[in-house]
Amino acid sequence: MSFRYEPVEEPTALKLNEASTSKIFQKSAWRVYPSECVVTDLYRQLEPHISNLPVREDDVWILSYPKCGTTWTQEMVWLIGNDCNYEEAKSRTLNERVPFLDYVFITADTGAEGDTIQMVKEQPSPRYIKTHLPKDLLPSEIWTKNPKIIYVSRDPKDAAVSYYHHYKLWNAYNGSIEDFFEAFLSDSLIFSPFWKHVLDFWKLRNEPNVLFNTFEEMKQDLPAVIRRTAHFMGKKLTDQQVEELAVHLSFSNMKNNPAVNKEDGAEMVRTMNGVSSDLKFMREGSAGGWRKVISPELAERFDKWTEEKLRETGYRIGISSD
Ligand code: A3P
Repeated sequence: MSFRYEPVEEPTALKLNEASTSKIFQKSAWRVYPSECVVTDLYRQLEPHISNLPVREDDVWILSYPKCGTTWTQEMVWLIGNDCNYEEAKSRTLNERVPFLDYVFITADTGAEGDTIQMVKEQPSPRYIKTHLPKDLLPSEIWTKNPKIIYVSRDPKDAAVSYYHHYKLWNAYNGSIEDFFEAFLSDSLIFSPFWKHVLDFWKLRNEPNVLFNTFEEMKQDLPAVIRRTAHFMGKKLTDQQVEELAVHLSFSNMKNNPAVNKEDGAEMVRTMNGVSSDLKFMREGSAGGWRKVISPELAERFDKWTEEKLRETGYRIGISSD
């Protein structure tokens, strides 16, 4: 497939780029068609390596728009796939066990994690792979090899608040929260547009190789989501295993687990970016926490935007089935 690129020139994006002073993390640079996705300059250079990445039938791909519960899903899926091997899960970081394909084009830093495309290629089977790429930018073999795809979605108001804190930490964003929300709503952040990302996988939810989960359901009934995911992956867990896994995946346990809490990377970035030590990856982990941050007027704008995008899709925020 051939891609067409247009420079990101929306005033909201330019303002956001200007206020993001990190020397490590890349800025919104291009909108790529047909996906409409906002990508970095490095993505444009690396696109052929991603599009042509060999996919394996026994891969498990974990997909999401940023800040929707990807890390949480990665840990759940890896443990289900590896018969709840907590020893190994504690001794190797999540990024080693489930490489983040996109890391190589969202950062300029190839030292910390190296070339993540290569890392994905070198994983032994079955591979577990994380990406925020939207449907149209996935490696083309995804559609012929049909690996397992586990998608996770979240209320965009919570995702936007989480993404704002993420930008403050990783991108050294020093602009206002209002400007950040404008950029989110105008679909000009990296990996936006949000709703196209979610809905493209919502439409695929009934495909046998696709599982659609939500952050809200994980919050509400994690054991049920563990069971559903295990069933999808063809794995059998006892009630006790489900219970233990739910405890392992609780926010407080993951926050204190160095293999998944990203504190190493965060500490490095806090120093390089010179940002507050209060900024953490494992921040709040709530559903509905946006109420503390987003004014009723802004919430109404989010809701109108959502209503328009969801018209006639059957999708309801937080609910993974029809
Ligand atoms: P908050 O910033 O709202 O706290 P991602 O992994 O897609 O980047 O998503 C990160 C969000 O998931 C963060 O949200 C993070 O705190 C939350 N999260 C990670 N692990 C979690 C867990 N075990 N329980 C609840 N939320 C979790």
